[in-house]
Amino acid sequence: MTSGTISISTNDLHCEFGEVHAVDGITFEVQTGTLFGFLGPNGAGKTTTIRLLLGLLEPSSGSAQVLGYDTRTQADQIRLHCGALLEQNGLYERLSAEENLDLFGRIWHIPAERRAQRIQELLEKMDLYERRKETVNSWSRGMKQKLAVVRTLMHNPQLVFLDEPTDGLDPVAAASLREDLVDLARQHGVTVFLTTHNLSEAEKICDQVAVINKGKLLTVGSPDELRLQKSAHSIIVVGRGFNEALLAELRTFPDVEKVELQDRHLVVYFKQETDSGNLVQFLAAKDVMIDEVRKGKASLEEAFLSLLEEQA
Ligand SMILES: Nc1ncnc2c1ncn2[C@@H]1O[C@H](COP(=O)(O)OP(=O)(O)OP(=O)(O)O)[C@@H](O)[C@H]1O
Ligand SMILES: [Mg+2]
Repeated sequence: MTSGTISISTNDLHCEFGEVHAVDGITFEVQTGTLFGFLGPNGAGKTTTIRLLLGLLEPSSGSAQVLGYDTRTQADQIRLHCGALLEQNGLYERLSAEENLDLFGRIWHIPAERRAQRIQELLEKMDLYERRKETVNSWSRGMKQKLAVVRTLMHNPQLVFLDEPTDGLDPVAAASLREDLVDLARQHGVTVFLTTHNLSEAEKICDQVAVINKGKLLTVGSPDELRLQKSAHSIIVVGRGFNEALLAELRTFPDVEKVELQDRHLVVYFKQETDSGNLVQFLAAKDVMIDEVRKGKASLEEAFLSLLEEQA
């Protein structure tokens, strides 16, 4: 692995389909060996971005480099060194699992012996080896999805694009795939670029996440950075003696956006980053027994939703 190098960089990338601006001027970089989560609601432009990065689509303007290759002129090099799982799984339904992988292994020019080893290794890992002779059209959706992920890894790529890799997988298979992806990045320095609608998954495994909506990049950073950006805006007061009248009074504070009582936890959301000292003093003067005051911790999901709300 070459640490500190850049695997993906885009510069003001645009892609238009008629009236639809699917990708609207995005600029970002992905460091080599990073597990990078590309997040956004349906229709945000995630799959389009991946297709642009693989050189499967021509940008309307702007540019992108993947592993140092230009997506417009060196797409063949990109596809040689990258693995990609797109929305369609790309499997041949009438071939068996083994035949599918063997075929892709040939496309990647992997020698026969090495191909057979790699097929066994990957299928065993995914618990599919026993069923390797069956045709893929008789398999369940999740089994096909596992095979499609395996296919992208056949040639030990330096970079993999995975468009919703855990979609349709059972919880055990999804957890196991997540472990494999972390292992790929940590142990083997492979850059993993993935999209997912499962934000707790992104929070667990991604080093960096980007949020895209309506073709525009809203933010890039570590899941912690994103959560903290939003967490500065709330506090949790654990204590006793809260009542509705008190909550109503708190709601009249100029900086306060919303107040909620959850059990013995009073959660106060502010309109912006605020010193909560006044509010705590006010509570103490009202005979509230305060056990603890702490900064609210937004989940990645909350941070994501709040980012999208801000853009709307
Ligand atoms: N080939 C195409 N022709 C016309 N419009 C397209 C094409 N591909 C994508 N779009 C439009 O571009 C926008 C972004 O689509 P894209 O598939 O990139 O979204 P996405 O973020 O992957 O969404 P999802 O989470 O649903 O997979 C959508 O409005 C979509 O309708
Ligand atoms: Mg998509």
